[in-house]
Amino acid sequence: MDLVIIERAVAADIRAVYALEQRCFPSPWRKEFFESEIANDGRYNLVARRGGVIIGYLFAMWFADEMHVNKIAVDAGARRQGVALALMQRCTGFAIEQGVTSISLEVRQSNDEAQRFYTFLGFEAEYIRKGYYPDGESAVVMMKEL
Ligand SMILES: CC(C)(COP(=O)(O)OP(=O)(O)OC[C@H]1O[C@@H](n2cnc3c(N)ncnc32)[C@H](O)[C@@H]1OP(=O)(O)O)[C@@H](O)C(=O)NCCC(=O)NCCS
Repeated sequence: MDLVIIERAVAADIRAVYALEQRCFPSPWRKEFFESEIANDGRYNLVARRGGVIIGYLFAMWFADEMHVNKIAVDAGARRQGVALALMQRCTGFAIEQGVTSISLEVRQSNDEAQRFYTFLGFEAEYIRKGYYPDGESAVVMMKEL
């Protein structure tokens, strides 16, 4: 099996990232969101490729000592192979280099799989953000100290 390569995301990756987003999330981000995230400062956006095909991505932003993961997803056919773990490890390494001391994120209250993934990484649930998602579902805010 080909190696997984993780790189900073660029504008040319957005079409594939957006296609994957639509398959992975019930309320996907609009393509324009990805375009503006790629163009903005203070962002750390990654793609994971295998055999040249994008199989996962992580979009994050950081300010001062906090990093916030906006998005992470792995193609259904490539899950449970450590791809998301590799994306988070790369992001964490970068965060530490920047002097970041904590990483936060929101996850749907019903998304047990992602919550198990974050717990595996050492994240802890901090509080509930009620009605956070467009369909009214609440978010669990999770945090990890570095
Ligand atoms: C959550 C997600 C990103 C995990 O990606 P992944 O590449 O499959 O995760 P990894 O293989 O790196 O998992 C590392 C560890 O996390 C835990 N984990 C990951 N997915 C899990 C699941 N579905 N159930 C239980 N534990 C899980 C396991 O401990 C796993 O190690 P193991 O496979 O050796 O047991 C992926 O399921 C996904 O894209 N889901 C849809 C999009 C989504 O919900 N994103 C998060 C939004 S907040």
